[in-house]
Amino acid sequence: MRILVVHGPNLNLLGKREPEIYGHQTLADIDADLRATAKRLGAELDCFQSNHEGELIDRIQSAMGQAAGILINPGGFTHTSVALRDALVATRLPVVEVHLSNVYAREPFRQHSYVSPIAIGVISGLGAEGYRFGLEALVARAARP
Ligand code: DQA
Repeated sequence: MRILVVHGPNLNLLGKREPEIYGHQTLADIDADLRATAKRLGAELDCFQSNHEGELIDRIQSAMGQAAGILINPGGFTHTSVALRDALVATRLPVVEVHLSNVYAREPFRQHSYVSPIAIGVISGLGAEGYRFGLEALVARAARP
């Protein structure tokens, strides 16, 4: 079983970017943790990060028929991108949305997500561990007949 992990804009700066909000772990740390979890669960991961909306959409489209699910932190595009949401819907794959911070405890503009209504679930505010929980949930769902 193959799962696509998508990290949106500015997440390449994790570790340096507002660590009081996003923590001290780098994106490489998070991907390494996810790979270890995937191995334990018998899944394979493709991890992808981009700061560009079109590149994220191209990568999501390429998961059609290839992946069993998508774990995504859309970063700032969460709150702005109809096109990213449309791409996720087009794949017909189960999607889990993850945020490091609790977006509901922050600025009002972060409290609307274009992705949440089309996700099977949303994890927000549990830091880097949230990705692990999301991956476990996706693999469990994708394994269900
Ligand atoms: C984020 C929350 C978003 O509002 C923000 O734009 C990000 C990161 C999070 O992981 O908490 O880039 O998705």
